[in-house]
Amino acid sequence: MTDYIIAIDQGTTSTRAIVFDHSGSIVSQGQLEHEQIFPKAGWVEHNPKEIWDNTREVIGQALSKANITRHNVKAVGITNQRETTVVWDKNTGEPVYNAIVWQDTRTQEIVDRFAADGGVERFKDIVGLPLSTYFAGTKIVWILENVEGAREKAENGDLLFGTTDSWVTWNLTGGVDGGVHITDVTNASRTMFMDLETLEWRDDILEVFNVPKSMLPEIKSSSAVYGTVHTSSLLREVPVAGILGDQQAATFGQAAFDAGEAKNTYGTGNFLIFNTGTEIVKSKNGLLTTLGYKLGDDAPHYALEGSIAVTGSLIQWLRDNLGLIKSAPEVEDLAKTVDDNGGAYFVPAFSGLFAPYWRSDARGALVGLTRYVNKGHIARAALEATAFQTKEVLDAVNADSGVPLTELKVDGGMIGNNLLMQFQADILDVPVVRPVVAETTALGAAYAAGLAVGFWANLDELRANWQEDSRWTPEMDDAERDRLYRNWKKAVTKTFDWVDTDVS
Ligand SMILES: Nc1ncnc2c1ncn2[C@@H]1O[C@H](COP(=O)(O)OP(=O)(O)OP(=O)(O)O)[C@@H](O)[C@H]1O
Ligand SMILES: [Mg+2]
Repeated sequence: MTDYIIAIDQGTTSTRAIVFDHSGSIVSQGQLEHEQIFPKAGWVEHNPKEIWDNTREVIGQALSKANITRHNVKAVGITNQRETTVVWDKNTGEPVYNAIVWQDTRTQEIVDRFAADGGVERFKDIVGLPLSTYFAGTKIVWILENVEGAREKAENGDLLFGTTDSWVTWNLTGGVDGGVHITDVTNASRTMFMDLETLEWRDDILEVFNVPKSMLPEIKSSSAVYGTVHTSSLLREVPVAGILGDQQAATFGQAAFDAGEAKNTYGTGNFLIFNTGTEIVKSKNGLLTTLGYKLGDDAPHYALEGSIAVTGSLIQWLRDNLGLIKSAPEVEDLAKTVDDNGGAYFVPAFSGLFAPYWRSDARGALVGLTRYVNKGHIARAALEATAFQTKEVLDAVNADSGVPLTELKVDGGMIGNNLLMQFQADILDVPVVRPVVAETTALGAAYAAGLAVGFWANLDELRANWQEDSRWTPEMDDAERDRLYRNWKKAVTKTFDWVDTDVS
């Protein structure tokens, strides 16, 4: 009987379950999208019950497509959209509010309140993050302050908080019937509450946020047997043995295990992660300090991260809000109807700007418009925005590390776009490399789980699984690269200082 590992990838737009074999190849997968709920400008929510129902269903899809049962599955690994905040009643299993998604900016007023004393970098030395609407901490505060009865229930110890890894794990291991309430270090490092050195919750920060510690999950390593799946599931009694936030999982799936290795993921947003080994490096250039992974009792690995809020979601916006294209891949055809951006630059600061600016007062801008610009130029400007934003982040990584990256490993949904990948190599002036297994997020979670149960022996075995698929090499001349990037930088400045108290 052949053995496999199953990974659950609870993402921003969909939930996937993927069965992997020992070579790290995909055997089968199930996938379901969930509703994106936009109640007001700047608000983004998901229904946690829908996410859990989808999780159960995609597990069934993946098992049946592979024609296997739980007996063939040695472990479950979980990876997830990070920061997205679920608060639920531990007695009923009911969420008290929808999940507040990482892109949601409703907590700006809470950020300002906490930043009034000490600025946005107030806790950065301890937690690696600036105060921002992005992280889970202020989202929990919003729920406690705005959902009727939530504060009282939380003080009574009846409410649990989790990012979606915790929500899925709690339900998978039994929910109200003995579910384990845990998270891993990578997810915990996105709350604002975890001390990067001790890997424990900080009582003093929790006090400032007024969040009861009883709500928080127990922090675990990224690879260990945390519990087994409940008897009500198709995966009953299979060990749950790995959790990594999606970006860290992609880094792990790219086998970027050592200091100096990096990857860039092109999904809803873009996230460049640069492994700094066991050293905590504090950025001087607008990057976050975050956990990379921690295997069992081994020392944790840290990373610098450049987070970009809007890349692939700008393509979805062209599709859904403007109706310019019918599917995301069509953007490439539309962009190819023109030779260049026609002078148009699109800065998609829809959730403010994340790295390296951290400007929550910014909003999106399409600039350089003349009567000449057509929809082909806009499609091209939208794709180029992803590449320019990546260059800004890579410049910050190179400045912080002092050793420039000589090539960039990439993954995520947008890397199917050839025009973008070539333009990316051109703008960065380094080769861009794609692995054979592009589902690195799920693969990383599978690796973490498989290592914990001995399905894979060590990291060397995983390194050997990584194989190059394609490579784009720079072709643009320096003057053209400089001209485009200079214009981009100018465009970015046009987005600043937009938000006033009466403009959201
Ligand atoms: N050919 C393409 N050209 C440009 N963008 C694309 C293309 N194909 C997909 N995308 C974009 O890629 C994104 C999907 O990629 P991916 O599935 O990696 O996203 P994700 O952020 O990981 O989502 P989730 O969090 O749900 O897993 C979408 O935003 C989509 O617009
Ligand atoms: Mg994803």
